[in-house]
Amino acid sequence: MKIRLLSIILLLGFAACYAQTIRQNEAAKPPDKDKVLIVYLSRTGNTEAVARMIQNEVGGDLVALELERPYPKEYRAIVEQVAKENESGYLPPLKTKIENIGKYDTIFLGFPTWGMQLPPPMKSFLRQYDLSGKTIIPFNTNAGYGVGSSFTSVKELCPESTVLEGFVTKGGIERDGIKLAIKNARADEVRIAVHDWLVRIKLTK
Ligand SMILES: Cc1cc2nc3c(=O)[nH]c(=O)nc-3n(C[C@H](O)[C@H](O)[C@H](O)COP(=O)(O)O)c2cc1C
Repeated sequence: MKIRLLSIILLLGFAACYAQTIRQNEAAKPPDKDKVLIVYLSRTGNTEAVARMIQNEVGGDLVALELERPYPKEYRAIVEQVAKENESGYLPPLKTKIENIGKYDTIFLGFPTWGMQLPPPMKSFLRQYDLSGKTIIPFNTNAGYGVGSSFTSVKELCPESTVLEGFVTKGGIERDGIKLAIKNARADEVRIAVHDWLVRIKLTK
């Protein structure tokens, strides 16, 4: 009797372990490429470089956010305009339209830090599209001061989405004339960091 009871307990234990392994493997499965969207905002190419690295690893559609009225080319003028927009909460209208957002279930959002915040065009995007039920993954480049409040804003603007750990790396310092910094040896370094992060969040193997 005791032996039979012990065998049943052991059997149940094995079954539970097996079920858990299957669940873990399912969770670790990379997403279906057709359901991946990578949306990014990039002025000097750093965030775009990271977006392309993600696309090389995960696949998916790549879309650059463009405005109906582009920002000034001159650095000081854009800094001034963005500061005003950040203060007033103005959401610049987007020229970019995403057809069929419903077909995507995994959405990467790439942006630079602007005024220690999420750039206004990305706020426009998140206000315009309903991303509830989707997995959102932010990534950011900045001049060395970090993400500021941008990742927190993504979470706040996507309350019904699953927001995964984001990626952050140093990009350019336009103020000092350094525009595209993620190139050559630095691009190799960032590519490795992107890969490690994607493995960690289980979006690539
Ligand atoms: C309007 C504006 C505001 C910026 N504000 C910040 C900031 O607050 N903190 C920071 O670290 N970098 C700031 N930067 C620098 C960018 O975040 C950095 O250069 C980034 O890598 C640019 O990405 P991109 O090449 O994809 O445009 C700012 C750049 C611009 C144009």
